[in-house]
Amino acid sequence: MRTTVVAVVMVMSCVMMAYADVKPQRDFNLQRFAGKWYRVGLAYDSPSFAPFREKVKASMGMVTPLPNGNVNLTMWDATPVGCQIMGYQYEKTAVPGQFTYFSTRHNMVKDITVVDTNYTEYALVLKYKAFNREYTQVALYGRTQTVRGEIINKFKAFALSQGFPRESIVTPPPAGNCPPSGSGH
Ligand SMILES: *[C@@H]1O[C@H](CO)[C@@H](O)[C@H](O)[C@H]1NC(C)=O
Ligand SMILES: *[C@@H]1O[C@H](CO)[C@@H](O)[C@H](O)[C@H]1NC(C)=O
Repeated sequence: MRTTVVAVVMVMSCVMMAYADVKPQRDFNLQRFAGKWYRVGLAYDSPSFAPFREKVKASMGMVTPLPNGNVNLTMWDATPVGCQIMGYQYEKTAVPGQFTYFSTRHNMVKDITVVDTNYTEYALVLKYKAFNREYTQVALYGRTQTVRGEIINKFKAFALSQGFPRESIVTPPPAGNCPPSGSGH
């Protein structure tokens, strides 16, 4: 009994260590991070997501900083039933570049770390739940719908370093007409 407990605790601390290494972008600047992004890469190892991996499109997101330092994120997702708009609220923490949010889908608070961004081209974002890879994602955002191969390679290397299997890493094609053209975005 006692050995089981020790083993479980050891496994859990190893998993936690993997993410504890990840630091946010130095001198993170929320105002420069604001605006339009496309999610051009995604690493997500959830079994329930696996069947949809090849169907994912590069969703568009709009980052709106709020006066108190929190963030509204609006995402436009191309789905089989059309273009869906979703709103997310990211709450700031004491560490710039690090946020928390409540996932209504998984009914839990998750951590968001903007790991690396140069603001004008790309952003590498880790969304995670300590102890549980099923709820963890790495996303690559680009200011345009396609980014240079060098940036894609950086994203893949980071996802692999976080223990994501190669087949869980996708670089979705652009979403056609989502948001619909002429909608003001
Ligand atoms: C942020 O999102 C909340 C909830 O959807 C909304 O009520 C609020 O108006 C939004 N604020 C801005 C500045 O977009
Ligand atoms: C970000 O990357 C792009 C493409 O390499 C480059 O043109 C731009 O100058 C970079 N921006 C900063 C702030 O480093």
